[in-house]
Amino acid sequence: MKTIKLGFVGSGFIAKFLTTAMIQVRNCELSAIYKRNGAEELASYAKENGLGDPKLFDSVKELCNHVDAVAIFSPNFTRLAIMEEIADAVKEGAELTGVICEKPLGRTVAEARQMVELARGAELKTAFFENQLHMNVINNALDQLRPQQKVMGDFHLARSTEEHAGPHSAWFWDPVRQGGGVLSDMGCHSIAACRHILTPEGKGPSFLQPVAVQAETSLLKWGQPKYRKQLKDTYGVDYEETPAEDFSTGIITFKNPETGQLVKGQFTDSWMYDKQGLRVAMDGLGPGYALEVNTLISPLEIFIGDEAAEGVADAEKALEKSTASRGLLAVHPNEADLYGYAAEIRDMVQAFSKGEDAKLTFEYGLEITWMVQAAYMAAEQKKTLDLTDDIVKNEIEKYKSLIAQGKGADLLYS
Ligand SMILES: NC(=O)c1ccc[n+]([C@@H]2O[C@H](COP(=O)([O-])OP(=O)(O)OC[C@H]3O[C@@H](n4cnc5c(N)ncnc54)[C@H](O)[C@@H]3O)[C@@H](O)[C@H]2O)c1
Repeated sequence: MKTIKLGFVGSGFIAKFLTTAMIQVRNCELSAIYKRNGAEELASYAKENGLGDPKLFDSVKELCNHVDAVAIFSPNFTRLAIMEEIADAVKEGAELTGVICEKPLGRTVAEARQMVELARGAELKTAFFENQLHMNVINNALDQLRPQQKVMGDFHLARSTEEHAGPHSAWFWDPVRQGGGVLSDMGCHSIAACRHILTPEGKGPSFLQPVAVQAETSLLKWGQPKYRKQLKDTYGVDYEETPAEDFSTGIITFKNPETGQLVKGQFTDSWMYDKQGLRVAMDGLGPGYALEVNTLISPLEIFIGDEAAEGVADAEKALEKSTASRGLLAVHPNEADLYGYAAEIRDMVQAFSKGEDAKLTFEYGLEITWMVQAAYMAAEQKKTLDLTDDIVKNEIEKYKSLIAQGKGADLLYS
């Protein structure tokens, strides 16, 4: 099998995590990195771990001439401009096979649609990185339950949550640059995971049709004066003027187009989960069978007493978004695998080396953006939206949430 040479645009948190995951994947190397913050360190890390000797490039276009696929791992507000440069590079002769983009594909449906058009216009294969659909804990559970599902019927309900104490970069907190708050940031995972759990065996990721959505967006912790000040001092974002939601929950109803059966996905996401660190929790309930996932339950625990804690400089070593560095701590032996990063890269490498799209395409990423934006609209309008109604669909197409416009104060403080 051909080795896929990857070029990364973005060398921050997710780029480092995915590079760690690459250590567990064959037939790929990190060959180029766009020169921004963290690029040198990431290049050294890749080299030390036998993933190649990445060259640093000052321009995205130049990077495109040295790789088979480009991965967009930069902040949400940079997506389109980078995709445009990639498409231009192809027009000018860069021999790229594919393009990868981290979630979310766009801050609005219009942006995500443009991403699809630019990628397809350049005849590129696509991989949308939604890691949770590649999580072995979910997929192994689904495999185990397929015989019961066949006899008893499909899942009725899936519940999916992703929560931590808040993001690590200023741009994430800024609703304008990020495209919203926690619903845009992590609701996209939870909505995708619900739909995945509910999808009958053998059907593709776009099989279930979203037919209705209800949702809430709230500001529970980071709008309080003490925490607003903390945000302003640490990240320079002003939640009095331009807040984003730190809590979101909702229900999407999906229809099986073959049987007409309606099933529900309930998502809950927050940036105020002041426990050990990131928790992804899900369950799926079918007739007579169920699955449950809680990523905070690890087979590995460590204990650090007060005296020894003074020596721990980096709490995040224990677990993504760790909040504590002492006491009884959950530690994951292999987080990159747990969250599905290794499996999503493996899927992309196998697909691109055959000249095919990955399992999750940009078109799929657009569908998830569409559902996330529909949820924002439902929360803003405080009603359940009929997603089969052409008027509603048309509105979602052009929609940009008040929160993403920086006008969320009335909604979130009322
Ligand atoms: N799948 C997941 O669970 C997951 C987790 C975290 C982040 N993400 C996604 O990954 C993306 C990046 O997030 P992150 O946490 O790594 O952010 P980050 O802030 O840690 O890193 C961003 C990187 O992009 C670079 N950058 C900034 N502006 C740029 C520009 N204009 N052009 C090119 N590069 C630029 C920065 O220098 C930095 O290297 C986001 O879209 C986010 O939603 C996904």
